[in-house]
Amino acid sequence: MKLRPDFIHEFLPGSSSRTLLLLHGTGGNERDLIPLGRQLDPNAALLSPRGKVLENGMPRFFRRLAEGVFDIEDLKYRTDELADFVSAAAQHYGFATDQLFAVGYSNGANIAASMLLLRPEITQRAILFRAMVPLIPDALPDLSSARIWIGAGDQDPIIPASETKRLAELLRRAGADVTIRFFKAGHGLTNVDVVTAREWLTEL
Ligand code: MLT
Repeated sequence: MKLRPDFIHEFLPGSSSRTLLLLHGTGGNERDLIPLGRQLDPNAALLSPRGKVLENGMPRFFRRLAEGVFDIEDLKYRTDELADFVSAAAQHYGFATDQLFAVGYSNGANIAASMLLLRPEITQRAILFRAMVPLIPDALPDLSSARIWIGAGDQDPIIPASETKRLAELLRRAGADVTIRFFKAGHGLTNVDVVTAREWLTEL
């Protein structure tokens, strides 16, 4: 059976009821974050799609006009498309969405944040590495049962600390329980990010 809408993706079954939705950064693919997913939770199932938008041949999850300047109409369209894919995949592979966690890095974290804001029925749990405000929704969703962890680099040249704090504030205004951690790091993911996110996930 073909998934509709479909994305090139990997699905690795797990031995627990948890599923991690892995969303790569610009220039990544569906295999990139599999090792990260395994590090975060070795027992979880992993669903890892490849972004459909190409920027100079590099896959992304939505179009941008410049670094940090997003094509909002495309972002909304791509957020819906990804959300519909995740719900079709849940039926197809038989995983429960109440134990689904979005795990995104950079561009993948930004579409995960967009999905929390626009399609909160898909998941209210997320680990966002190097995220910024993707868009301001017309109406704030009810995220009062959301649990979100954000990891930022205090020397990130792409995402200033103020931008990550703005995202945390927006999610909190929607009622989410947000943990935000700043690391001595740039835009790249560090081992401390992964270890700290794993601790948070384990304690949930
Ligand atoms: C984005 O485009 O989502 C952000 O600028 C992060 C990036 O992918 O470089």
